[in-house]
Amino acid sequence: MKLFDVYPLFDIEIVKGQGTKVWDSEGKEYLDFYGGHAVISIGHSHPHYIEAVTGQLQKLGFYSNSVINSLQQHFATKLGKISGYDDYALFLINSGAEANENALKLASFHNGKRRVIAFRKGFHGRTSAAVKVTDNQAIVAPVNEGLSVVHLPFNDAQAVENELLRGDVSSIIVEAIQGVGGIRIATDDFLKQLRELSTRYDACLILDEIQAGYGRSGRFFAHQYAGIRPDIITAAKGIANGFPMAAILISPIFKPVYGMLGTTFGGNHLACAAASSVLDVIEQEQLLINVNLVGDYLMQELSRLPHIKEVRGRGLMIGVEMEEPVKEIRQRLLFDQHVFTGVSGTHIIRLLPPLCLTLKEAEEFVRRFRNVL
Ligand SMILES: Cc1ncc(COP(=O)(O)O)c(C=O)c1O
Repeated sequence: MKLFDVYPLFDIEIVKGQGTKVWDSEGKEYLDFYGGHAVISIGHSHPHYIEAVTGQLQKLGFYSNSVINSLQQHFATKLGKISGYDDYALFLINSGAEANENALKLASFHNGKRRVIAFRKGFHGRTSAAVKVTDNQAIVAPVNEGLSVVHLPFNDAQAVENELLRGDVSSIIVEAIQGVGGIRIATDDFLKQLRELSTRYDACLILDEIQAGYGRSGRFFAHQYAGIRPDIITAAKGIANGFPMAAILISPIFKPVYGMLGTTFGGNHLACAAASSVLDVIEQEQLLINVNLVGDYLMQELSRLPHIKEVRGRGLMIGVEMEEPVKEIRQRLLFDQHVFTGVSGTHIIRLLPPLCLTLKEAEEFVRRFRNVL
């Protein structure tokens, strides 16, 4: 059987990782400024992570959600404490799209409404409702067309209020920093207005923190810069450092009902062991402090380089918008300078390194980046 060919691949196989570095099958070393698409939070093959996952595997890899799994409560308690959302409830699933799918569903169960407000250039995943709220018609299949969604200009609160006035909006879904859309930051004022408007018009505010969350922005969740508390927060990617896992954090206004949400694999023993060890490391190694320090340095140094239109972002979620298309720059970074980066659209290089990136590695990246300009 061959693989269903949907990914345009670089001709490289990564076989080993350590901290912020990865190695290919020929033994070449690369600096990882992509983090496997913002997934590697505490660094590749962290010893505490390996110990937690292998230790759990030796005891029990999986059992179903029909019996007690105390690892889930252990993780929930830690996450509540570190994120400042102790009073919220946790539901565990397996991927970012699934998190948003459940968040949109929960909002609709709660207020009985069916329309959703999303934003231009927003990305929320590829399953049914998640892909429909994503602003990319090319990936929406006819079977996904059912949900009624309006895509409004990002950072335009007046446009949001005009839609809410119709009275049929169940939820507003928004990224505090648009990732796939090109590292575009929701202003603090916009997020505050979304909070206020959602409450006034009985709509639920869903913050998609799948890419910007989990410390990447320099706060645990990126919306915390605006000092708001959403009704539902979705998290994935960095949550378990590469083990497939996702979560929704649910405000106390929602009342759970047996059977309203469910999953076979979500919150399994291995995932919880991985996710708890990630929080241990974020805390013990003070990774949020590191993210702010190294992120500020990178933003400052990158904005001094030539041919750059704008450097924007927060913490270690950085977009470098170039005057020229970036395809060749990215290829030279990878094949000549041995650095993995991401892109957004045609003109933006996206930097999403592990949160443990050191100042020395950041300096090294700036040197290699300069070489390709
Ligand atoms: C903001 C955001 N939401 C949702 C998703 C979908 O996550 P997953 O690919 O795990 O389904 C992504 C993935 O890139 C994302 O960046």
